[in-house]
Amino acid sequence: MLFDTHAHYYDEAFDADRDQVLSALPGAGVGLVLCPGCDIPTSQASLELAEKYPHVYAAVGIHPENLDGVSLDHLDQIEAMAAHPKVKAIGEIGLDYYWVKDEEGQKRERDFFDAQLDLAEKLDLPAIVHDREAHKDSLDLVKAHPNARGVFHCYSGSVEVAKTLVILGWTLSFTGVITFKNARKAIEVLEWAPLDRVMIETDAPYMAPEPYRGKRNDSRYVSRMAETIAAVKGLPVEEVVRITTENGRRLFGI
Ligand code: NI
Repeated sequence: MLFDTHAHYYDEAFDADRDQVLSALPGAGVGLVLCPGCDIPTSQASLELAEKYPHVYAAVGIHPENLDGVSLDHLDQIEAMAAHPKVKAIGEIGLDYYWVKDEEGQKRERDFFDAQLDLAEKLDLPAIVHDREAHKDSLDLVKAHPNARGVFHCYSGSVEVAKTLVILGWTLSFTGVITFKNARKAIEVLEWAPLDRVMIETDAPYMAPEPYRGKRNDSRYVSRMAETIAAVKGLPVEEVVRITTENGRRLFGI
């Protein structure tokens, strides 16, 4: 049974057939899905999907690209939603210096990441971290929260940073990027990474793996990530599926 640990099913890309796609997943071997929110409305939408489908769980949080018009007071609403039993993490949260280049905007991202890591620690929930071109500052903030734990989703950092994160107790998660031809860096991380700290995800509707690249992504394709990791590690695919699902259940308490 596969666990897609990161898929955005509230996205409008699923408006036409969301129920059909989600209902078909258990029959297609995907027994668990975690849907992270990116702001208050999509966190609420994730929670509603988790209430509707037994195999869907939610995370709530404010993504670094969605801070316009948001104040730290809004985190009270995230905290209130996090009390729901199907909310299993704070996310997705983090830093994005690819889309936000100005110093003031990046400082604001750090303030929100810091506050949401505080919240994760306070609620004893794992965090789902988005780190794009902000590896050093992400690592520094994680180090400043020794009781926080969680996952770096769509891991894009170096082997060096991965080693530090694993020592700090964090998990690394991999998307369809590992199936792309130019995935050398992520493959190097996978070659090193202990399998008990690896999870798989689609990040649907984006980043469909090969050979579906460019199409709408959905959780069925997470099997491609398991196959790729099995090839890198020289292990049977079933073993990678079993261990990555176990890792997700353990981290999120499912
Ligand atoms: Ni995402």
